[in-house]
Amino acid sequence: METINIINSKDYVDKKVKIGVWLTNKRSSGKIAFLQLRDGTAYFQGVVVKNNVSEEVFKLAKELKQETSMYITGTIHEDKRSHFGYEIEVEDIEVVGESENYPITPKEHGTDFLMDHRHLWLRSKRQFAVMKIRNEVIRATYEFFNQEGFTKLDAPILTGSAPEGTTELFHTEYFDKDAYLSQSGQLYEEAGAMAYGKVFSFGPTFRAEKSKTRRHLIEFWMIEPEMAFMHQEESLELQERYIAYLVQNVLDHCDYELQILERDRDVLKRYTELPYPRISYDEAIDLLKESGQFPDIKWGEDFGSPEETYLAEHFSKPVFVMNYPKAIKPFYMKPHPTRDDIVICADLLAPEGYGEIIGGSERATDPAYLEEQIVKAGLNKGDYEWYIDLRRYGSVPHSGFGLGLERCVTWITGEDHIREAIPFPRLLNRIYP
Ligand code: 4AD
Ligand code: MG
Repeated sequence: METINIINSKDYVDKKVKIGVWLTNKRSSGKIAFLQLRDGTAYFQGVVVKNNVSEEVFKLAKELKQETSMYITGTIHEDKRSHFGYEIEVEDIEVVGESENYPITPKEHGTDFLMDHRHLWLRSKRQFAVMKIRNEVIRATYEFFNQEGFTKLDAPILTGSAPEGTTELFHTEYFDKDAYLSQSGQLYEEAGAMAYGKVFSFGPTFRAEKSKTRRHLIEFWMIEPEMAFMHQEESLELQERYIAYLVQNVLDHCDYELQILERDRDVLKRYTELPYPRISYDEAIDLLKESGQFPDIKWGEDFGSPEETYLAEHFSKPVFVMNYPKAIKPFYMKPHPTRDDIVICADLLAPEGYGEIIGGSERATDPAYLEEQIVKAGLNKGDYEWYIDLRRYGSVPHSGFGLGLERCVTWITGEDHIREAIPFPRLLNRIYP
């Protein structure tokens, strides 16, 4: 008899197997008990028929408590009525760990209560589905960039630089010096691009942002590719191919999870069709004005969630908004060749109200321009000497971007809040558990 995982049931129909499981729920009558079981790979039902098992096993089955862990042995059958498609007829049960008064019962609980029990809540079906899709996005990311000839180059977490501005930095001590938790690995990836051509980082990122929205985490994971000898247009093509690749791989490998989440496959399918529309910031402002919904919007303002939602819904596909005003973007972006009020950049806005999932740009290459922008941004020039060096020794046109992993996962899974897309979210008022 083999020990298997639930997910492999289809290969063991009518065979006797052993599985290590937890009980999620249970229903029983005098003659039969239905055990809802999970093992981390899938969820299915165990059926215990009184007449087919010993008296002790049936009694044990009826007394099992929610989240008790156990080994069950039994025979796998097809079960056309369930969406998983298989069940197990249980013959024997061996309890491994008892569970008394599991706090998350099948009744409804409030979000705060669930968040306080995140360490247990992760076991629930929706959370399972989101975490498996997150894992697929991570897997497909590595696959994509390896296929494209990228080298993964890890950026430091403890740094002295502030690529995205000084207002959102987490301060810490580095012996007798000041240091900050990384808000982006980008500047280091630029050094990497000059060394190895095409590189990417994939690591945790910290923003001490006092925002309490459905899209903001204090700690999130970011994928930051950086490409030497590449202008912005080619970078946009890479970005859309990457996003379509992620969505396609979720469609190909996460059918079970998408069913649990009741996520419409046809909607996702549409997001794999390229190219994505591209509009300029100027055109975006015009569209917003014409809509009649944003009468007060002015050129030069950054977009908030309502503006981003309107723009992406207008195209019902992810849309690139290009070339924002210089004044609202970071110091490193390449200035426009003929207009000094905009920079060569683009944000990718996801439809269905998910907003910006990618921010990227071509990078400025003129050392004098960069020094001036660094000072203007209120940063200490001395801290960026190494970064300016990249422009002094064989500088080339280069571009890059950053994808927020959890923004992307929230969008693909169709969840309402970004806290669902990371195992242990750090939010404005939450660092427990
Ligand atoms: O637009 P951002 O701030 O860009 C950068 O950090 C660049 N250095 C990236 C680059 O060019 N290498 O952040 C990039 C992405 C956003 O589009 C969003 O998806 C995500 O990171 N992001 C957040 N995700 C969750 N919570 C937050 N507070 C986020 N801030 C940004
Ligand atoms: Mg941004």
